[in-house]
Amino acid sequence: MRILSGIQPTGSIHIGSYSGAISQWKELQQIGECIFFIADLHALTVPQEPDTFSKQVLNTAAELLAAGMDPEKCIIFIQSEIKEHTELSWYLNTITPLGELTRMTQFKEKSQQFKNNINAGLLTYPILQAADILLYQTDSVPVGKDQKQHLELAKIIARKFNQKYGKVFKVPEALLLETGAKIMALNNPKKKMSKSSPAGCLYLFDEPDIIRKKVMSAVTDPGKSIKYDPVKKPGIANLLTVYSLFAGKPISQIEKKFGKKGYAEFKKSLADLLILKLEPYRRKKKELQTREVYVREILTQGRKRAEIIAQTTIKDVRKKMGLI
Ligand code: AMP
Ligand code: TRP
Repeated sequence: MRILSGIQPTGSIHIGSYSGAISQWKELQQIGECIFFIADLHALTVPQEPDTFSKQVLNTAAELLAAGMDPEKCIIFIQSEIKEHTELSWYLNTITPLGELTRMTQFKEKSQQFKNNINAGLLTYPILQAADILLYQTDSVPVGKDQKQHLELAKIIARKFNQKYGKVFKVPEALLLETGAKIMALNNPKKKMSKSSPAGCLYLFDEPDIIRKKVMSAVTDPGKSIKYDPVKKPGIANLLTVYSLFAGKPISQIEKKFGKKGYAEFKKSLADLLILKLEPYRRKKKELQTREVYVREILTQGRKRAEIIAQTTIKDVRKKMGLI
């Protein structure tokens, strides 16, 4: 089974992206042929600082390794280093209906958020994502819930190409967790925890005092009881989800433990748990920050391995489309 997924180098990894995507990647690398990459081309659709961008990409690579990605068990590379992604993206542009792109939620949200920079890349973003996936004949794509719509479109594009030109692509499936596919912001439990709103994020590499401060001041709901009710108590439901994921216990068990104990005690226990569970990631990241040559070498090896698969698919695509 071939598994592929990507992450944008737009900020530090937070417990949302860890829970929705990376925790799945860690498990899947034990059982499948895994390919993970840093989606630097996707990140260019919103403003980036050229002077620091390459540092950010390397930082994301170090964070992935610190979070538990094992270069012995998976391929890790930088998207822009394999030219076939942009090449395939263009071919797929020519068969993707415009209407599919304009209805994408992420396009609508980002064009609201970046009103002064509604570039064509924001619109065609999901086509590049489809290219990322289809280039590697991917079976499964482990992602958070926000990516579900893009995955549906990748399937539509794969089927359309296969119908029009003959079978080249595998039709991929999204892999979504039942619990943890959408972690909400700590300062607003009605909004997704997102790198574009740092105030609501708890980062995987936050220091203990920061973790405690963020958890203790997380927005909760009126009332007192610790009960999982995402509609009436979205703040507590979100914190229960996080607790459950990091404790490795079902939500019902945690509800029972804290049922009548009050928010402060529950939050204090969650802060203690996170400080403990995130310690190895903090330590590993500090170590990797001093080993840039090693990180770069992993990315080079990853590129070489991924390139072989990408080139094979592109050859087939060009032939099927009648390109010389
Ligand atoms: P990004 O950091 O936006 O490139 O996202 C990387 C991966 O993390 C994608 O698979 C997202 O769906 C997932 N992800 C991002 N934010 C969250 C969140 N708040 N909850 C769950 N998954 C998330
Ligand atoms: N769009 C994804 C995100 O923002 C990142 C991404 C790019 C991706 N290409 C991909 C995820 C291919 C899965 C497969 O999170």
